[in-house]
Amino acid sequence: MNIVEIQKATVYQGAIQVFSDLSLEIAAGAQTAILGPNGAGKSTLLKLLCGESRAVDREGSAVRLFGQERWNVWELRAQLGIVSHDLQRDHLDGVRGVEVILSGYYASIGVYGHQEFGAAQRKRAGEVMEMLGIAALQERRFFEMSTGEQRRFLLGRALVHDPGTLILDEPTSGLDLRASFQYLDLVRSLIRRGKTLLLVTHHLHEIPPEVERVILLKAGRVVADGKKSEVLTRERLTALFDTPVEIAQAHGWYQALPAF
Ligand SMILES: Nc1ncnc2c1ncn2[C@@H]1O[C@H](COP(=O)(O)OP(=O)(O)O)[C@@H](O)[C@H]1O
Ligand SMILES: [Mg+2]
Repeated sequence: MNIVEIQKATVYQGAIQVFSDLSLEIAAGAQTAILGPNGAGKSTLLKLLCGESRAVDREGSAVRLFGQERWNVWELRAQLGIVSHDLQRDHLDGVRGVEVILSGYYASIGVYGHQEFGAAQRKRAGEVMEMLGIAALQERRFFEMSTGEQRRFLLGRALVHDPGTLILDEPTSGLDLRASFQYLDLVRSLIRRGKTLLLVTHHLHEIPPEVERVILLKAGRVVADGKKSEVLTRERLTALFDTPVEIAQAHGWYQALPAF
């Protein structure tokens, strides 16, 4: 089964055509990373997947999630958690921790304060915060948290539905070493518990060893797609980032270094 199936999609952001004829399939159970420089179209791709942007309606073009072209937001949430600090933080500034988690139960990211939550939902939010080690921060407002704490709350927001698939957008950017190592460890434990990860990033070093497939995205096009060890080469990354790159590797992790 495919989690994501994009066929010949043309997508605009304002007047800019970000994708023309983009085709991409991501299978369930395959741990995948999409790597691309700034401006490659990563955020646009995420917006396409969460319904914030749409592909131009034309013959032969389709965007399917879990095999369906039209989806009910609730059914989708139960299967797919999308976590993007960039796309989500603006809606959350004055919101308290526990409500950030509970906001996973809202239909849209922008609406707060009108819902009543049941005991089961509050219990689940409590469990998620315990699991992520953030229960002590539940009364704190989002803008009063460190970046690392905010990331955990955003992850918790997606996890209330216990989705089988998680899409993470640059999960560790802005985190210090300890916070990013802890976060990546958490992501790995979710993979071990059977979640499928789709990571979207420009940071080589946040690709967990479990990721098998890497897709390189540049200027709205897939320029490479395959086994991680065959895609993450100095030649390909030098071309991808338009700068000489050397690659270091340890214990299944990759790091990019300047080759000049
Ligand atoms: N709201 C917007 N209006 C116009 N152009 C946009 C908008 N958002 C993104 N773009 C353009 O679309 C392209 C892809 O951007 P984006 O998807 O944000 O890339 P990435 O997340 O990989 O950095 C870039 O050229 C960017 O300038
Ligand atoms: Mg982006």
